[in-house]
Amino acid sequence: MRKSQPDSVSVPPAQRPGEALPGTASADLLTLIAQAIAANGGWLPFDRYMAMALYQPGLGYYANSSRKFGLMPQSGSDFVTAPELTPLFGRALAVQVAQALRESGTTEVFEFGAGSGALAEQLISALDALDQPLTRYTIIDLSGTLRERQALRLARFGERVSWASEWPAAMQGVVVGNEVLDAMPVQLLVRQPEGGWHERGVALGAAGQLLFADRPSELTIPFIDVEGGAVLPGMVTEIHPQAEAFMRSLAEHLQRGAAFFLDYGFPEAEYYHLQRHQGTLIAHRLHQVDHDPLGDPGEKDLTAHVNFTGIALAGQQAGLDVIGYTSQAHFLFNCGIAEMMAGAELRERAMGQKLVTEHEMGELFKVIAFATAGLQFNPLGFAHGDRMHRL
Ligand SMILES: C[S@@+](CC[C@H](N)C(=O)[O-])C[C@H]1O[C@@H](n2cnc3c(N)ncnc32)[C@H](O)[C@@H]1O
Repeated sequence: MRKSQPDSVSVPPAQRPGEALPGTASADLLTLIAQAIAANGGWLPFDRYMAMALYQPGLGYYANSSRKFGLMPQSGSDFVTAPELTPLFGRALAVQVAQALRESGTTEVFEFGAGSGALAEQLISALDALDQPLTRYTIIDLSGTLRERQALRLARFGERVSWASEWPAAMQGVVVGNEVLDAMPVQLLVRQPEGGWHERGVALGAAGQLLFADRPSELTIPFIDVEGGAVLPGMVTEIHPQAEAFMRSLAEHLQRGAAFFLDYGFPEAEYYHLQRHQGTLIAHRLHQVDHDPLGDPGEKDLTAHVNFTGIALAGQQAGLDVIGYTSQAHFLFNCGIAEMMAGAELRERAMGQKLVTEHEMGELFKVIAFATAGLQFNPLGFAHGDRMHRL
């Protein structure tokens, strides 16, 4: 599960681009990263490195053909997500999506970052079972190889499923994204003893290895620098301009409807807490967490937790209304997962438990919901336990 907390972000072991893994995609990617560093004056901001490590065409983690999603490392997978665990996840989310479709008078769903297509399969099946009209299900994913996998899995739904490689011009409908925001590149900041921040980037060592390098920066973290949040010299943390820009694009393109994002993360007071003074950036490979984001780029997932306050503000300032924020457990219970589990086979019940128990995904994972201006409704997934006041 992509949910563990980092306790350090370490400098990686020395590795020469193109030498440690000769002939592999990782070696080719290392060469491209080394070229990008050189072309940028010897230093690449971490978000640009992360974008290459995850999305460089053909070579980045989400752009290559590795398996990624699965229950166990034996399958060659690196992590499991909620829809991979059990279809109960999509069935419960469908109850919320159906309500939002009805309330907005729309019949389209847009899924960002659809992974293996598991959630799409669950949502379409469940919406059909609920007799909820669904004219089109559009997937927007940065990954071409995942798109092929999704197409195979979703073939039986025919032309109702389509793919878009960029933002659809005028969206009317319900948007969903599970573990998408955490996969967007982050910038790293390091607190200086005299105050202020350095930006952490990636450079080449004398032996050609990738290493962290910090540079003075004008960047600020308003929660700390303006509001006076606690901070320690040496603190390493992240800011999320790409995820916030994504929210602004969503506000620009969504003409009528609602959006639901499910992911791990915190409101900013918890995010920028001394407990997390080494940040939340981590890597996943073969169901193990590591703290070496510069090692073997393209061969492991990189992710940072979501600052839900930043996401809420970005959406709100761009014209969307925040209509709900709660834990995944509260959200799924509000959508009726307990009743669904009661009628399910033992294995499904056990997997459903993982979605809602506090020490698994129930508490660390959150759900945030937005609606376009003027669309007033009380989303049923937040009926009990809404935490918007904590954002
Ligand atoms: C961790 S995976 C989650 C996959 C799937 N939602 C699941 O729950 O199994 C992240 C996905 O988000 C996609 N992604 C990241 N940034 C994106 C963006 N800006 N637009 C669309 N997809 C994006 C990645 O390509 C990848 O498929």
